[in-house]
Amino acid sequence: MGCCQYFTPSDGGAESFTVEMPRLTFGRGCLSELGERTKAHGVRRAAVFTDRFLYGSQNMDCVRRSLVTAGIDHEIFDEVRIEPSDTSIMDAARFLADGDFDGLVSLGGGSVLDTAKAAMVYARYPASFSAYFAPPIGDGIAVPGPVLPHIACPTTSGTGSEMTGLSVIRLMEHDTKFVLASRYILPDEALIDPACTDTLPSRVMASTGFDLLSHAIECYTSRAYSHWNKVSSPDARPQIQGANPWSDLHAREALRIADEYLVRGITDSEDREARDNLMWGATLAGMAFGNSGTHLPHAFSYGVTNLMHDVVTDDYPVPSPFVPHGISVILTSPAVFRFTAPGAPERHLEAAACLGADTSDATPGDAGEVVAGRIVHLMRVTGLPNGLQGIGFAAGDVDALAGSAIRQHRAVANAPRETNRDDAASIFRNAMSYW
Ligand SMILES: [Fe+2]
Repeated sequence: MGCCQYFTPSDGGAESFTVEMPRLTFGRGCLSELGERTKAHGVRRAAVFTDRFLYGSQNMDCVRRSLVTAGIDHEIFDEVRIEPSDTSIMDAARFLADGDFDGLVSLGGGSVLDTAKAAMVYARYPASFSAYFAPPIGDGIAVPGPVLPHIACPTTSGTGSEMTGLSVIRLMEHDTKFVLASRYILPDEALIDPACTDTLPSRVMASTGFDLLSHAIECYTSRAYSHWNKVSSPDARPQIQGANPWSDLHAREALRIADEYLVRGITDSEDREARDNLMWGATLAGMAFGNSGTHLPHAFSYGVTNLMHDVVTDDYPVPSPFVPHGISVILTSPAVFRFTAPGAPERHLEAAACLGADTSDATPGDAGEVVAGRIVHLMRVTGLPNGLQGIGFAAGDVDALAGSAIRQHRAVANAPRETNRDDAASIFRNAMSYW
């Protein structure tokens, strides 16, 4: 394995990396521990964040029962928007600021968890919305301090948001999403109950499964932490700090899980072994990219989500046009990895091997094709759209997509190869179709 060489110190480069993680409980039925675990944080009145579709679910019943049994007063906020925006975050922040809460429980997918994290920041530290985002769109002000104790309960096996200090939000005036990053928004606890995914439709399992797969490949192929500049103080060390031995460990196992269980979990809703393992894989990938960051597929997906104009997606109860996050990520990833592989060929080959590709005769020059080929195979057997044209994009959209993508400075710089606007346009052109 080339992992140790990959972290060879560079001139002026970082010599240390930090691992941030919440306390984690994993297993079927662990959602019922919520009340006691919330109480242990001294919470007496909790805000419960969820969405309208989970409001009447068995999982929500379990949350209510558990909190009542533990004697915790609570109020539910179910106005979370799928793909949260600046507006929806500020609505949630007002609910928090007005409610006299001393803790927060989130139950849902990435949209719910990300809304909870960001809303707590603006409720406690009011500021203009762009204040806590990095330049070029934000003022780059650090989140000033702690927020409410947060117990995160994911109901999908993809985002890994319960394991990260990151919140991804649509900024409507900029036509894209940006990442709010701070160790202060890392949840205090994660209760990860795979039973929450039992009723997820196949298309939701596909989007979330490919999201976890891409998290893992992206963090494994990110620029090494030792090739980012050394920081002047511990507080200056960013969440997106580049690939490191910790993220490697979890990314490799997440890829092995994706290889074994992704297709099963998508195509057979009764396959609990697959769904349990995919939930664990999403957790591992979250532990990994929460400490390394992702790179181009995620940076490029944010423009895809905001610039889509002609697509209808089944199984999601939201108005069209809508592209689920994992689909917006994976549709560019084969083209991305063909581009980035020359920057770190061994890492791409190792990732492909973990994902089940035959790399026995592959040379470094084959790396991009091998990893892309494996992803395209998995896309085809699970019925995903054939590239960006499959969700309504055409050649005329490339310039706007590239312009949007290249504004994600930190994520773009986390790729193992320098990427300019022309490169981005070329990747988007190559991502229009794969077969
Ligand atoms: Fe993601």
